[in-house]
Amino acid sequence: MTTMTKPEDAVPAGSTDAFLSVRDLHVRFSTEDGVVKAVDGLSFDLERGQTLGIVGESGSGKSVTNLTVLGLHNPSTTEVAGEIVLDGQELTGASNRTLEKLRGNKMAMIFQDSLTALSPYYTIGRQIAEPYVKHRGASKREGRERAIEMLEKVGIPQPRMRVDDYPHQFSGGMRQRAMIAMALVCDPDLLIADEPTTALDVTVQAQILDLLKDLQQEFGSAIILITHDLGVVSKVADDLLVMYAGRAVERGSVRELLTAPQHPYTWGLLGSMPRLGSDVSEPLTPIPGSPPSLLAPPPGCAFHPRCGFTDLVGGGRCASVRPDLPAGRGSACHLKDEQKRSVFIETIQPRLG
Ligand SMILES: Nc1ncnc2c1ncn2[C@@H]1O[C@H](COP(=O)(O)OP(=O)(O)OP(=O)(O)O)[C@@H](O)[C@H]1O
Ligand code: SF4
Ligand SMILES: [Mg+2]
Repeated sequence: MTTMTKPEDAVPAGSTDAFLSVRDLHVRFSTEDGVVKAVDGLSFDLERGQTLGIVGESGSGKSVTNLTVLGLHNPSTTEVAGEIVLDGQELTGASNRTLEKLRGNKMAMIFQDSLTALSPYYTIGRQIAEPYVKHRGASKREGRERAIEMLEKVGIPQPRMRVDDYPHQFSGGMRQRAMIAMALVCDPDLLIADEPTTALDVTVQAQILDLLKDLQQEFGSAIILITHDLGVVSKVADDLLVMYAGRAVERGSVRELLTAPQHPYTWGLLGSMPRLGSDVSEPLTPIPGSPPSLLAPPPGCAFHPRCGFTDLVGGGRCASVRPDLPAGRGSACHLKDEQKRSVFIETIQPRLG
């Protein structure tokens, strides 16, 4: 289990000793149209060897959160507040030099699109070896041997023959494996995978997920897996964080989220996503409306314009009072615990089948 037993607002900064601790993170972009509140008070913890899945619709702040953890935001247009502590080291105030030393070494990222993440001009082997040469002071020859070893680990057949190939000579699935090899070459403690299988067909997706799981056992990394796909995340993650409009609206173990989800938005996500093993022709129910603009998110609960349960709360509370995420397993919603349970069992679960 990732540690999710501490309340967002009750944990003073710096008081947690989790391997990765994010506390009250705010990320804002200044744009011509105004300030985009991409992440608005997000907290979570993650332990070594554990996988946290972050799910939410497009624009909910998943990638921004993780790019900020890696220090890959543009400081001239981005305002970051809050705390990110990785293995005791504070990252929000860290210098570029420190972050650069950590990236590719202690923390690494796998991106969705291997074609843009890999350079077409260098061989696969050279690109895998680069962080190893840079951070470990290895020679080029040692780097090449390490690249071959990594290609073998990620299941590329005949790695010694393929190490000098260019990215276009690899299939999409193989490139994704090569990216995983590149991310793991320095044995990072934290691996962030942002939609790592979206561009792949279902069979290759499953292989890549199995690979990530196996490698995690071997390397013991903490993994953050960002995805739209609850099916994908439920196979790999220990815990889940559901994000809406830059905030966490529900968190818990995968089992809790799939069998007893509490937040109307999570119910909507479950209803709009294919169930594991379901027939592709099965009708899905999309969440009505669309995610809000983060230039001016709705007041109160940001989900209220799309939520079918505001009457149960009553008194206009949903539109005026912002619900907080309570300690540990829980959801940021004004419905009473008993209502969350009964609505799910009586209304939502039968629809999910
Ligand atoms: N550099 C930027 N400048 C201004 N706004 C930005 C910038 N980067 C992201 N945003 C905005 O921040 C919000 C969160 O974006 P983010 O990329 O984190 O979403 P996401 O949850 O990863 O979505 P997706 O599932 O589509 O990848 C969006 O509204 C996006 O338009
Ligand atoms: S707080 Fe109100 S609007 Fe928000 S999810 Fe709960 S019931 Fe729906
Ligand atoms: Mg994203």
